[in-house]
Amino acid sequence: MSELSAHEAIYSLRAMRRLRRDPVADEDLRYIVNAATQAPSASNSQDWAFIVVTDPALRQQLGEIYRRIGIERIRDGALASGRLSEDMAKVYRRAMILVENLAEAPALIVVALRGSHPENGVEGCAYYGSIFPAIQNLMLAARSRGLGTTLTTLHKAREAEVKAVLGIPDEFDTVALIPVGHPRGRWGRPLRTPSSEITHWDRWGQRSANS
Ligand SMILES: Cc1cc2nc3c(=O)[nH]c(=O)nc-3n(C[C@H](O)[C@H](O)[C@H](O)COP(=O)(O)O)c2cc1C
Repeated sequence: MSELSAHEAIYSLRAMRRLRRDPVADEDLRYIVNAATQAPSASNSQDWAFIVVTDPALRQQLGEIYRRIGIERIRDGALASGRLSEDMAKVYRRAMILVENLAEAPALIVVALRGSHPENGVEGCAYYGSIFPAIQNLMLAARSRGLGTTLTTLHKAREAEVKAVLGIPDEFDTVALIPVGHPRGRWGRPLRTPSSEITHWDRWGQRSANS
């Protein structure tokens, strides 16, 4: 199996919300979760768990929960408000694709993290900071095998229901719900602000290394 270089994976990773229904090989799912577990975490805590959901009935239940949130918050909330910029409206319209089709993704990975978000700045930062590197690893590993993903957090609005469906214990928070599948859409360079516009050399506001 040929995998992409890290460079190619990083520069072509984007949210893939249109996924084919055909199953993802178990070996690929194991590979991407294993890649997630190579990530750093504060004090090497590794307090994570990954629930890989392929069972159609469970995907259906998660899809229904996600759909209800999306209809309420995005379709009838943000989009209906008429207060979004055109760019933001575009992002929300894309998010609706997943709201309507989440259950069709052949695999949904729920990423869980032991504990809950501390108020304290240092600990709070370390808490979520200990899971998003793993999530990014997972998505890059999926990309390297030609699999599409989208990082979503919308399920948090009804997290208790998600946890009940999957039997996730109380001591774990869920951080993300990631559909995984073979993409319908094409890969392409994601639209991002050029790094030169947000890089400061030595001091804030200094735009070039030698000025
Ligand atoms: C913390 C976080 C939460 C996100 N939550 C959602 C979500 O709930 N639903 C969704 O469709 N996309 C979600 N996204 C995906 C973003 O909308 C997407 O990464 C962004 O619009 C850039 O898209 P692109 O990578 O295709 O360019 C989330 C991304 C991040 C980093």
